[in-house]
Amino acid sequence: KIYYDQDADLTVLDGKTIVFLGFGNQGAAQAQNLRDTGIPNDNIIIANREDSYAEDAKLKGFNVQHDFSKAAQVADVVFLLIPDQVQPRIFNEIFAPKLKDNVAICVASGYNVFFKLLKFKRSQDVVMVAPRMIGSSVRSLYQKGKGFPCFVSAEQDGTGNALKIALALSRGIGATKLGAISSSVYEETAMDLMAEQALWPNIIMLFREGFNVLKEAGCSDEALCYEMWMSKEPAEIFEAAADEGFVTQLKHHSTVSQYGQLSGALKLDGIAAREHFKNILYNQILNGKFTKEFSQIEADLEKDGLDNPVNQLYAKAEEMELAQAEARVRSRLADMLKQ
Ligand code: NAI
Repeated sequence: KIYYDQDADLTVLDGKTIVFLGFGNQGAAQAQNLRDTGIPNDNIIIANREDSYAEDAKLKGFNVQHDFSKAAQVADVVFLLIPDQVQPRIFNEIFAPKLKDNVAICVASGYNVFFKLLKFKRSQDVVMVAPRMIGSSVRSLYQKGKGFPCFVSAEQDGTGNALKIALALSRGIGATKLGAISSSVYEETAMDLMAEQALWPNIIMLFREGFNVLKEAGCSDEALCYEMWMSKEPAEIFEAAADEGFVTQLKHHSTVSQYGQLSGALKLDGIAAREHFKNILYNQILNGKFTKEFSQIEADLEKDGLDNPVNQLYAKAEEMELAQAEARVRSRLADMLKQ
């Protein structure tokens, strides 16, 4: 089911105090959209620790509350928009104990709700409004009067009004203009983590190995980088796929390319890839293995340098020939542009 503006009743938000916990990528975009839709500024509170995001919220004219307990006490609706890995700690320990029994909590990602990492009371509403866009696009598309793809669901209906609230919040941030797609935290989490842990790692690996083989065959760094991604051809292909069709977009390519791509794809049976994807989905994602591993490194994610596990992975990735070659190409290009 797809919900449009006419399915959402904004009056269910009348007089409610809406607290944004977090004013980052999504928080800044969603709070501004909500205000521009007509939710009074006085009814919006940005709960944020003292940092540059809080300064940004003040500059944009929002009421900022640094004391999370105080913000929690007055909230009728909470947008939970701090990074997923810190949500359980901040929400469960500081926010949740002060929340009203009939508050609505809105997440933008299914992760913590699906894996039951957040503590809610049965009487509370838990909804998901999950834009399929980075925050800056959530804001810029809204400003252009356009919508953006978004998943919506009511996960826990404590008050009997959860879906109505989810739809009103979707409309408030501009998501029902294009149509908010009915989904669930299960679906959102399974698809998101599969893309992140199976599909994209394979795409990175395919580019890495394709690069290595062509490099060994004598192709230059410059030619390879431009051929494979710096020309933006892959971006254009995906744009055409979104606009015209995943298969139909092939018709823009030369006949040699169309024949090569289609006959090549149809020859690959995909059995090994399917088994690999299933293994990741069932034995790494849905069984909570990845979540357990990720929770264990949460504290290290705020560290600097190589003490941060993500930086360690970046350092390893930079060792790939593809990355080394690209660095050389970009530095040569910068030298050329300086001249
Ligand atoms: P972000 O990384 O931009 O969050 C920054 C905000 O979190 C700031 O307000 C900062 O003060 C606060 N914050 C960071 N660490 C904190 C800590 N330790 N204690 C207290 N506050 C802290 O977050 P982002 O990317 O906007 O993600 C928020 C939610 O939106 C997540 O659930 C994410 O999965 C979801 N989402 C994000 C998208 C994106 O484009 N980044 C797209 C769709 C959903």
